[in-house]
Formats: sequence, structure tokens, C-alpha cells
Amino acid sequence: MERLALVTGAASGIGRAITERFVADGLRVLAADIDTTGLQRLTDELGDRVITAHCDVTDEASVAAVAAQAGELGGLHVAVANAGRGTFSPIVDHPLDEWRAILDLCLTGVFVTVKHAAGAMHDGGSIITIASLNATQPSAGMAAYCAAKAGVVMLTRVAAMELGARRIRVNTIAPGLVETNATTAFFMVPGVVDEFVENTTVGRFAQPVDIANMASFLAGDESTFVSGSLFPVDGGAGTKKYPDLPAAFARLTPPAE
Ligand SMILES: NC(=O)c1ccc[n+]([C@@H]2O[C@H](COP(=O)([O-])OP(=O)(O)OC[C@H]3O[C@@H](n4cnc5c(N)ncnc54)[C@H](O)[C@@H]3O)[C@@H](O)[C@H]2O)c1
Repeated sequence: MERLALVTGAASGIGRAITERFVADGLRVLAADIDTTGLQRLTDELGDRVITAHCDVTDEASVAAVAAQAGELGGLHVAVANAGRGTFSPIVDHPLDEWRAILDLCLTGVFVTVKHAAGAMHDGGSIITIASLNATQPSAGMAAYCAAKAGVVMLTRVAAMELGARRIRVNTIAPGLVETNATTAFFMVPGVVDEFVENTTVGRFAQPVDIANMASFLAGDESTFVSGSLFPVDGGAGTKKYPDLPAAFARLTPPAE
């Protein structure tokens, strides 16, 4: 049977690279995103192996509808809960609505995706969540994102326990710095990327394909004994020190007169 994968946040960056890799691996991909223009580009370039769906992972009904669509297409074999974004604010200044928005997207959005994807999934399937280096390595100024991503790791482990009876495996990938639309600001602030690279042992930042390679492994038959685990794809950055982002961003702000 042809295997079907759901990828959220598929229109850009890591989700897009995972979609491309899954298609190359022979899967059909149900590509879900709020960015309809980006989804159209995806089908223009990848053809009918990709079925697009407008889906907002912060809206449970929207995710449930995509899961129902997956059921009509024959059911899921793989799901990647990837949609997410960061924010930057010290805790004392952090607007509560922005905190809630990040938790809603990066943690609750993953919960809702796992919940409905599992319901539409064949026994023996594979669910992959996308956490971050920030799930384990804190960054000043990124409390909401770090807390949400740490939550994704534990959510993933609980899901692996609950879904194990159906031989569904659930794992999380924790990327370091990846060059995508989400990290454009880091590439524009002098010194930040250098600090990220110094933080690695391999001396470079990642491209989305680096993360897609791990997703391909976790989606495939070579990882059937792997579940409930965290896979850093960070060039060894977890061994070192996270960049001092408040200092870097302060360099952009001229001192008050
Ligand atoms: N880029 C990095 O350095 C990095 C590092 C660690 C973790 N991550 C994580 O990887 C994931 C993908 O990030 P990226 O760098 O590819 O970002 P990106 O901005 O390139 O892509 C994110 C995609 O998610 C979509 N999206 C946003 N809100 C959505 C919603 N409510 N419902 C559905 N789709 C939505 C966007 O439209 C976009 O297509 C995120 O969870 C991010 O936190 C990224």
C-alpha cells in the first residue's frame, strides 16, 4: 500500500524539506499549512504526490478536518507535527497574549496534531514532533518558546507510551539553528550566527535538509525499535553554550541619549 504522511507547517523551511524528502522516499504527503500561496508553490514543484490542505493547528476543528481527509485518502502511516514559531522578549516584559500564542501554536498545536493524527493512523505508524535545541538548552529572552518546546518533549514521551499498544512510534527531533524564514532575524543581527556556529562542534549551522534526513529515518522501517526518544540535530550544540541573544539584540539598539 502507498504510504501517506501528514506534515504540518509544510509550506516553508523544515516542513517543506521534510515534504520533499518524503516524496523522494515514495510517500504521498498531505501538506498542511495556513500559507495557501506556499502550499500552491509546493504542488507546482512536487506535483500530485502532494495533496495540500489549509490547516491552522491552533484550531482543533481545522486539524480534525485534515485528519478526516487523511482517513478518506486511506489513513496515515506517518505524521509530522512541525508548525511552530519563536518570539523574543524577556520574562518581565513578556506580553501575556504573546506567551499564550506561542504555547498555543508550539505546544497545544502539537498536542492537537498528535491527537487527531493518531486517530487517523494505521497501527505501526510513526509520529514525529519537532521540538528544538531550546527544549533542553535555555535561551534568555525565549521563555515561551523554550517552555513550549520542553513540553513537546514530554508530550512526545507520553504519546509514545499511550500509542505503543498500537505499535505507533512517537519521537521528537530537536534542531539547532536552521536557515529558514523563521531565523532570518538571526542572520541579520551581526555576530549571532557566528555565536550559534561557535556553539556547535561541527562548525556550521543547519539547512532544512539536515532535519529532513532525520525525519526520513524516523518515518521509515529502519527505526521500528525507536520510540519515545529525543533526537538532537544540532551539530553538537547541546554540548556547548547558547548564544547571548539579549546582548546581541542590545547591540542593535542605540543607547538612550
Ligand atoms: N529554524 C530553526 O532554526 C529551528 C530550530 C529549532 C526548531 N525549529 C522548529 O521547526 C519548526 C519549523 O520551523 P521553520 O524554521 O521551518 O519555520 P518556517 O517559518 O520556515 O515554517 C513554519 C511554517 O509553519 C506554518 N505555520 C505557522 N503557524 C501555523 C499554524 N497555526 N498552522 C499551520 N501552519 C502554521 C507557516 O506558515 C510556515 O509555513 C517549528 O516548530 C520551529 O519551532 C526551527
